[in-house]
Amino acid sequence: MTPAALEAIGLSKSFGGLVAVDDVSFTVAQGTLTALIGPNGAGKTTLFNLITNLYRPDAGDVRFLGASIAGLAPERIAGLGLTRTFQSARIFPGMTTLENALVGAHRHLRGGPLAQMAWLPSVRDEERRVTARAEALLELVGLAPFRRAPATTLPMGAQKLLEVVRALMARPRLLLLDEPAAGLNDSETAELSGLLSAVRANGITVVVVEHNMSLVMEVADEIVVLDAGAVLTRGVPADIQRDRRVIEAYIGQGAGAH
Ligand SMILES: Nc1ncnc2c1ncn2[C@@H]1O[C@H](COP(=O)(O)OP(=O)(O)OP(=O)(O)O)[C@@H](O)[C@H]1O
Ligand SMILES: [Mg+2]
Repeated sequence: MTPAALEAIGLSKSFGGLVAVDDVSFTVAQGTLTALIGPNGAGKTTLFNLITNLYRPDAGDVRFLGASIAGLAPERIAGLGLTRTFQSARIFPGMTTLENALVGAHRHLRGGPLAQMAWLPSVRDEERRVTARAEALLELVGLAPFRRAPATTLPMGAQKLLEVVRALMARPRLLLLDEPAAGLNDSETAELSGLLSAVRANGITVVVVEHNMSLVMEVADEIVVLDAGAVLTRGVPADIQRDRRVIEAYIGQGAGAH
């Protein structure tokens, strides 16, 4: 039997007296795109932080492709092929758009002093392949014309798209995206939607935290709804859209709703 891409099992995390994540369990099948939604403060980002062990859970286990990754260092988890992006774009200043994308591929480029010997044909070939892939991904999201521009000069939406490209350069087996459409205009959102469809078509499993409901309804196979740290419900987009409890959870947060 193929293992699930991701299993969160009874994850909990409190900050002082506040229970941010409360006994959360869910499973993500390989090759699917799951959207994680819920009102502001529901615990979505904290859940990503627990999965990638940026925060140590108070309780629970995380299985990635059938094996527990609980307690592994975040870099180690990334090295296994579990890649994430952050809610606010993290662009490397002093680097071009293309160089920012290439940073994502570092786990595939040979390490050590030998790798510096760019005159070795094998290293040159590899670099050429990786660069070609970065350029193809930048093209896919409309950033190719800016590949030589300093990444910090890109508009915020473009920086967020670049972060997704950089994450994909790591050739992840599971990709966690935290609000990739936040701050994107309509055409950038359309680029993102196209990119997510392409990612899914390539068999990469994705979990995306997102407030943009039309994007979520368009790309998600399944939706997990978090409210006040716990799983409120889960299901296919058509069912979630009609679920009164979901609508009420969002209304409950008042003007904060997106
Ligand atoms: N490092 C921290 N220290 C203290 N409290 C925290 C910390 N991180 C998150 N929290 C709290 O945990 C709760 C869940 O926060 P979290 O950022 O996970 O929510 P979210 O669902 O990602 O919200 P948003 O949609 O606004 O990004 C919030 O009440 C938040 O204030
Ligand atoms: Mg968040």
